[in-house]
Amino acid sequence: MPSVEDVLKALSEVTDPELARDLVSLRMVGGVTVEDGVVTFTLNLTTPACPLRTRLEEGAREAVAKLPGVKEVKMKTTSNVFATRDYSSSETLKGVKNIIAVASGKGGVGKSTVAVNLAIALSASGASVGILDADVYGPNVPHMMGVKSEVEFEDNMIIPPVAFGVKVASMGFFYKGETPLIWRGPLVAGAVKQLLTQVNWGELDYLVVDLPPSTGDAPLTLAQSVPLGGVVIVTTPQEAALNIAAKALAMFRRLNVPILGIVENMSFFICPKCGERTYVFSTGGGRRVAAQLDTDFLGEIPLDVAIREQSDLGTPVIVAKPDSPQAAVFKEFAFKVAGMVSIVAFSKMKK
Ligand SMILES: Nc1ncnc2c1ncn2[C@@H]1O[C@H](COP(=O)(O)OP(=O)(O)O)[C@@H](O)[C@H]1O
Ligand SMILES: [Mg+2]
Ligand SMILES: [Zn+2]
Repeated sequence: MPSVEDVLKALSEVTDPELARDLVSLRMVGGVTVEDGVVTFTLNLTTPACPLRTRLEEGAREAVAKLPGVKEVKMKTTSNVFATRDYSSSETLKGVKNIIAVASGKGGVGKSTVAVNLAIALSASGASVGILDADVYGPNVPHMMGVKSEVEFEDNMIIPPVAFGVKVASMGFFYKGETPLIWRGPLVAGAVKQLLTQVNWGELDYLVVDLPPSTGDAPLTLAQSVPLGGVVIVTTPQEAALNIAAKALAMFRRLNVPILGIVENMSFFICPKCGERTYVFSTGGGRRVAAQLDTDFLGEIPLDVAIREQSDLGTPVIVAKPDSPQAAVFKEFAFKVAGMVSIVAFSKMKK
């Protein structure tokens, strides 16, 4: 019969390919007991939205099962999300582990659609998630998530409404109907920071921020005043969009915001009748730009009627049609983002 040490040794030969370290030194293994050939332990992942979950679970199980004398492996999977930043000095953000910004160089590329489906997919995986709609020019996250913009206060703090498990706060809570046409960058940053720090976020594994579009002042000052854990750049396949996405990426890089990767929205059209894929624009642009700029490519999202309709109805496709191919695309993307966040957090821990 193996000893606890034998089990740990076997598990120390299983590596997490993303973090390039073994499960034991990553402190992912806990509570090992061996009794009558039954080995019990916990596999503690760095995020419940781990893209390699099945692979790690199988790897760990097999490594232990093949030890001589093992009759049964009882493995329990849990997770403890790694933090990219330390917000402990902030009264309202101290329970937040990761702020993930979703950005684009220009509007209309589907930044909010991506942000909303990302937040819900992370939440559905078991993480605690919030979304901050910082797009002062068109704060449509509450609409997309079916949230009314009446805000509740407690001790001068906003109690964020919860939709599909996600805590929601929006610049749209502050003005109804008319949107101020001109927002200068510093003003935007000030207003967003105020909102961010007036919300009772509680404990969050991920706070997704839908940033104002542009490569100018607004996201710049914001990124400087709120330390971001990382940023996802949303683009569409057209050449002009790709160029501006590259510009946005360069800007965040200059600000030392870790780039989590590029996602291409409206990549191809799925015929609602027969499901056939048509690449309306040239293909592979997002992937090519990601490679050129030495960042990760996080996936292609189809141009799809259901995606738009569900956003308009206030029930994003990921909740309205959880078993659809569209939902699967968003889920895979979200898991990639979570994996990237773990990698960034881990590289900071090593320093
Ligand atoms: N993949 C998609 N397929 C179909 N419609 C989409 C898709 N992504 C976004 N849209 C629609 O395009 C419009 C702009 O998207 P939105 O997410 O608001 O963009 P942004 O936040 O970048 O301005 C919305 O009507 C939205 O429903
Ligand atoms: Mg938007
Ligand atoms: Zn068709």
